[in-house]
Amino acid sequence: MDRYEQVTELARRRGYMWPAFELYGGAAGFYDYGPLGARLKRRIEDTWRSFFVVREGFSEIDCPTIGVEEIFKASGHLSGFSDPLTECKECKEIYRADHLIKHIIEVPDALSDQEIYRVIQDNDVGCPECGGRLSEVYEFNLMFRTAIGPGNKYPGYLRPETAQGMFINFQRLLRYHRDALPFGAVQIGRSYRNEISPRQGVIRLREFTQAEAEVFIDPRDKTHPRFCEVEELILTLYSRQGQEMGQTERMTIGEAVDKGIIAHQMLAYYVARTYQFLRAAGVAEDRLRFRQHKADEMAHYAADCWDAEVLLDRLGWIEVVGVADRTDYDLRSHMAQSQANLKVFVNYKQPERRRVVRIKPDMKALGPRFKGQAKAVAQALQAMDPADLKESGESVTVHVDGQKLFIEANLIAVEEVEEEVRGEEIVPHVIEPSFGIDRIIYSVLEHAYREEMVDEESRIVLGLLPGIAPVDVAVLPLMDREELTGPACQIVDEFRRMGMIVDYDTSGSIGRRYRRNDEVGTPFCVTVDYETLEEGTVTIRDRDSMKQIRVGVQALGETISALIGKRMTLDEASAALSQGS
Ligand code: GLY
Repeated sequence: MDRYEQVTELARRRGYMWPAFELYGGAAGFYDYGPLGARLKRRIEDTWRSFFVVREGFSEIDCPTIGVEEIFKASGHLSGFSDPLTECKECKEIYRADHLIKHIIEVPDALSDQEIYRVIQDNDVGCPECGGRLSEVYEFNLMFRTAIGPGNKYPGYLRPETAQGMFINFQRLLRYHRDALPFGAVQIGRSYRNEISPRQGVIRLREFTQAEAEVFIDPRDKTHPRFCEVEELILTLYSRQGQEMGQTERMTIGEAVDKGIIAHQMLAYYVARTYQFLRAAGVAEDRLRFRQHKADEMAHYAADCWDAEVLLDRLGWIEVVGVADRTDYDLRSHMAQSQANLKVFVNYKQPERRRVVRIKPDMKALGPRFKGQAKAVAQALQAMDPADLKESGESVTVHVDGQKLFIEANLIAVEEVEEEVRGEEIVPHVIEPSFGIDRIIYSVLEHAYREEMVDEESRIVLGLLPGIAPVDVAVLPLMDREELTGPACQIVDEFRRMGMIVDYDTSGSIGRRYRRNDEVGTPFCVTVDYETLEEGTVTIRDRDSMKQIRVGVQALGETISALIGKRMTLDEASAALSQGS
C-alpha cells in the first residue's frame, strides 16, 4: 500500500471520510465526511475564519449555490470554463484530451483543441483502455446546469466558485463598508464542477468546499499597511523563471517583492497569510511551496497568480490554494452585463486644481424648447462625457422620462474651466486568496500520518495539531469497573463543560485504546486508575512522545486546555505541576 492508500483506508475505517453513495454503488467525485472528518473540516474552516475574518477583519457572507445565467455570462464561465474532450471511437470512453498528451507536451493547457488533436494524431495516441482511435477534440463546459422553476425558461447553474457572490453583491458590500476601500468579503461554501473523470479521491471532486476572500483595493495603491508583519517570513518560491530552470528558491517575502518576483505587496501579503494558515492547519513546512502560474496557464480573469502547492506521496505537487490578482476583470464584466455602476469614488489626499472640460447646456435655448423637461435634459447632458459629445457631430441623444430626445449641437457648448477636483471614480481591483478546503484536509491527513516501531510493534500515528485534531482528549478508565468509570465520567463532564470534544472509551486493553487514539490523532489521553481513587491524580499521555505525567484532578482541566491551546508542552506542564505541588 502506498501512503495514499494507507491514508484513505484509515480515513474510511476510522470515520474521517469515504466515497459517497456507497449503498448504491457510488459516483466518482463525491465524498462524505464522517464524524471525525466533519469535525476536522469545521476546525480547519474555523482556523481559516480566525485568519481572514477575525485577523483581517473581512466580512463573511453566505449566498445561494445556484446562480442565474447572467452571472456566468459576465464572469466568463459560460463561454470559457471548459475542458477539451476526446472520445474513443471504438469503446466510447471519454477522456480529457490534454491529459492524454501530458507525456508529450509539458503544458498542454496552452494548446487549442485543434493543436491537441494534431499532437494526438502525429503521435498515434490511442484510447488508454482499448487502444482505439480517438475523435476530434471538443470543449465541455464544467458547470452543472439546472432549470429554475418548471420548464426551461430560466436556466440556472451550480456555482463553480463562491467568488461571484462577492462580486454581484459589490454595491451592498461597499455601502456596508461605508463606501471606502480597501475591504474584504469572504465566503466558505460548496462549489460544483462537473469534472470529466475524477479519479483522485478528494483531490478532484465534483462537489467541493471553497473558502474564498475577495479583497477590493484601489488599483493605484497595491502596498499593504501590515506588510511589515510578514516581510521577514521565509518561503519556498517557484517563480516563472525558477520553473524554466527547475529551481525553487528560499527567500523572505520582503525580498521577493523587492526583487520583483512577487509583483506587489498586496499579492505577497496574502501569499504570506496563506502560508501561515496552511502551517496552522498542519501542512508540513518541507512539503509546501508557492508556484507562480505561467502566462499561458492563468485563469481567464487573472493577471498574476501564485498557487500554494503541497507535496503528496502519490500525486506529487498539488495546488491547494490560488492567490490571484483578478484586477478589475469581474467588476467590469458585471458592469457591462448589468449596466449597474460598480465604480467607487475615491478622494485624493489633497483636492487638486485642474482644468477640466465640461458640457455647458444653453438654458436660454433649452427652456423654451423643452419646457418642463429642460432641467432634466440639462442634467442628462452634463452627465455625458464631453469626449463622446465631440465625436457625435451634429446632434446628441439623451433619454429623459423614458423619451429619446435629440438635442442640436447649437444648444450645447463645451467649455474648459479650472475646478477643484476632490477625487475620481475608479473600478477596484481584486486580490483573491482561494482555498480548496477538501484538498487541504487530505494534505493535512497525509502529512500527519506516520508509522513507527515501538517495542517491535508498529504504531500508526496521525500527528494532527492539538486544536485541529477532531477529538481534543480521550478519557480512559483503566478498567471498565464502576469505581473507575464514575470518576472518569465526571472528568468527561468537566471537559465538555469547558467546550472540549471528548472521546470516552472503555473497550479493550489500555494499550489498544492508546493505539486507537494515536491512529485517529487524539493528542492527549487521560487515564483514570486506582491511584486516582487513592491520591486524586490521573495520567495525561502525550500522543507524539508517548510520555506520561501525573496530574491532580483539580488541575486537570486547566492543564489539558493549556496543552491544547499550545501555551504549554507536556514537559512545561510537568515542571509547572511539580513546582506547584
Ligand atoms: N475562485 C477561484 C477558483 O475557483 O478557482
